[in-house]
Amino acid sequence: MREAIPMKGQAKDDVLTTLETFRANDVPWREGKAFGYVFDARHEALGAGKRAYLAFMSENGLDPTSFPSLLRLENEVVRMCASHVHGGPEVVGNFTSGGTESILLAMKSARDWAKANRPELFANGARPEILAPITAHAAFHKAAAYLELGIRTYDVDAETCRASAETARAALSERTLVLVGSAPSYAYGVIDDVTGLAALAIEKGLWMHVDACMGGVVLPFMEHNGEAVAPFDFRVPGVWSLSMDLHKYGYCPKGASVVLYRDKALRKHQIYACSEWAGYTIVNATVQSTKSGGPLAGAWATMQVMGQEGYRAIVADMRAATRRFVEGIDAIPGLRVISRPEMTLVAFTSDDDALHVFHLPDLMKKRGWYIQPTLGTQQKSAAALREHVHLSVTAANVPHVERFLSDLRACAEEARAIPKDETAKEVAFMASHIDPATLDDAAFGRLLAMAGMNGAGVPESSAGINQILQELDPAFRKAILVHYLNDLFA
Ligand SMILES: Cc1ncc(COP(=O)(O)O)c(C=O)c1O
Repeated sequence: MREAIPMKGQAKDDVLTTLETFRANDVPWREGKAFGYVFDARHEALGAGKRAYLAFMSENGLDPTSFPSLLRLENEVVRMCASHVHGGPEVVGNFTSGGTESILLAMKSARDWAKANRPELFANGARPEILAPITAHAAFHKAAAYLELGIRTYDVDAETCRASAETARAALSERTLVLVGSAPSYAYGVIDDVTGLAALAIEKGLWMHVDACMGGVVLPFMEHNGEAVAPFDFRVPGVWSLSMDLHKYGYCPKGASVVLYRDKALRKHQIYACSEWAGYTIVNATVQSTKSGGPLAGAWATMQVMGQEGYRAIVADMRAATRRFVEGIDAIPGLRVISRPEMTLVAFTSDDDALHVFHLPDLMKKRGWYIQPTLGTQQKSAAALREHVHLSVTAANVPHVERFLSDLRACAEEARAIPKDETAKEVAFMASHIDPATLDDAAFGRLLAMAGMNGAGVPESSAGINQILQELDPAFRKAILVHYLNDLFA
């Protein structure tokens, strides 16, 4: 752990060699054995994206008039994305740092649009609300927290895990401002009823946002490849804004997403200008002010080198692999794929009491794989959504399907042999006597010790921790996660 900037500068090569060693315990994505975090196209476009990123790393997107190169790149990337999701020439948007920023900006635009057009929603200090299915990404909750909006969630069908317009209608309140549909949802990989939700938005004068962070690039290519895809894009009347990430299935270097609006009048509410300070003129389309041109140039170059044909080929391969994953996982005793994945995102759980799915990521890790454990979620009246394991299937995973399935089968057998552990219930019981608002270092330390952890480091295995998190009351879970991260970055 370095405590200060070194007094004397170090040799460049030594520094870079040291840096490489830091990766030792990272998710092993280079082998194609990670099903999350890194989207690897296994395509020469990645090299082009990287070079373009470095070439434009120092250019500054703060002021598009000073760097017309970046203005051109952004307008071209946005236009390529808009036409991909069937937006006409009136559809506009911006390049952002990621899905969360795209969603945050769309929600800011909705809020400020409402200030101008639906002032009654703010009467007596009220907060307009985002109405989102329980499966909508956490970024909507974050946006509500940052923007002082309300957020209300509603259940999804426990079998299909899809949000329906009828359930949304029943959950409307007089403060509802935004409706959200995912295309597809991260956790269950299914496309919500965007057509029904958008029709409801038109009927009630609401803002409809489609979160196509995962599907924006892939779904239209599936359609080009002859697959039936539920409507989700600007062809659906009533869709006002849409987020699509390029750093996921666009296979662009990270820090790349796009937020799109049906027209300029809506996007106007996204833009922030400041004339109340003593420095240079500030007018920003996005959250960052100074921003590197690297991600933008990287995205532009990746899309040029991939081309529609490159993407279509990859999409076809990923879809074939996904179908095989679904079939293969369903054939493993005790495991079951949840819902029917409509793209390349797979969730599977265990119905066998003796086989806890939270052991699988740990056991698979020993064999070099990364798969993502996901907590279960209570719903208001529909059945709970089961704890499960998530796979985001990428091009890099395609050659490893059969190996993965045989390792998973072996790990399921090993997991069945692990005796049940009551620690999670004991920790949850102890936690139930602590007010989350007053969780202090001492109580946190005791909980960590009960969980077998000695300080807030990176845990060796995740099963025990996830079982505990699953047992905790959600408010307490939040408090403990905040405490943990606050200690981790220290
Ligand atoms: C559907 C969906 N929306 C939004 C996001 C947030 O994107 P980011 O992590 O790029 O901020 C994700 C991330 O996985 C996602 O799957």
